Amino acid sequence: MKKYLVIGNPIEHSLSPKLHNFWMKKNNINAIYEKEKILDSDLKDLIGKVKKGEISGINVTVPFKKKVIDYLDQLSPGSETTQSVNTISLVGKNLIGYNTDIDGFELAIKNINFNVLNKKILILGAGGVVSSIIFALKKLKAQQIIVSNRTKEKAENLKNLFKDIEITNWGNIPDFDLIINATSVGLKKDDKISLDLSKINKGKFFYDVIYNPKETNFLKEAKKLGNEIENGKKMFIYQAAAAFELWHKIKPEIDENVNALLDD
Ligand code: ATR
Repeated sequence: MKKYLVIGNPIEHSLSPKLHNFWMKKNNINAIYEKEKILDSDLKDLIGKVKKGEISGINVTVPFKKKVIDYLDQLSPGSETTQSVNTISLVGKNLIGYNTDIDGFELAIKNINFNVLNKKILILGAGGVVSSIIFALKKLKAQQIIVSNRTKEKAENLKNLFKDIEITNWGNIPDFDLIINATSVGLKKDDKISLDLSKINKGKFFYDVIYNPKETNFLKEAKKLGNEIENGKKMFIYQAAAAFELWHKIKPEIDENVNALLDD
């Protein structure tokens, strides 16, 4: 039986196995998808198993999205620019790294009918997923992308990948149309981001990459202040769907059952 994996550390809370196993069963694919918590020192061996065909594909999550690059033969243009790989596949004799987080964000933002064209976007955070979000926003022709991170240096580092982004100090909230929380603040129910959102005019769009909890305090407060909100659930589903399509050459169906699967 073919085997697929998601690797990360921590990995206990990953819902990727649930989603991929559901779609594989539905499409009569005789394979299993598991999660594995690994250390840096396990990477080489594990990726070697994909090269040998012992593992058919790997999804990669925090903190390995950049680290895996050293072990691959080729990168898709998106993963090259973002220096981030979340999906690995063996194509012929080559191990290829893809970045379907880009597709995930792009499809999610299109699905909610937010038109990024000529808009001002403020991104909070500079962690693993931010380069993918910037790539998608640039593709959708955002007018201005501003990044604010508690540790400014990490935001500045993103300028090495994207010359035309702007950086602002943590705590400073410049004018925006869309604000994206890409920090890990909100993963715990009581987490509250240390920013004053109350002075922002209403009618903006607030997006949170987090989808569990469904409504972070960031989204709750934004809604109370009269803004539109969206969580990261669709992004997660679409990135998984794009990986599934790369591996199995089948576009998986995204329906109510899939949505419900992530709610249990
Ligand atoms: P990584 O940094 O390993 O890629 P991540 O979960 O992708 O991990 O990113 C965490 C993000 O949340 C970072 O941007 C982090 O900011 P720092 O770079 O300053 O650490 C941000 N973050 C985490 N806790 C935060 C907090 N209490 N306030 C503001 N930002 C926070």
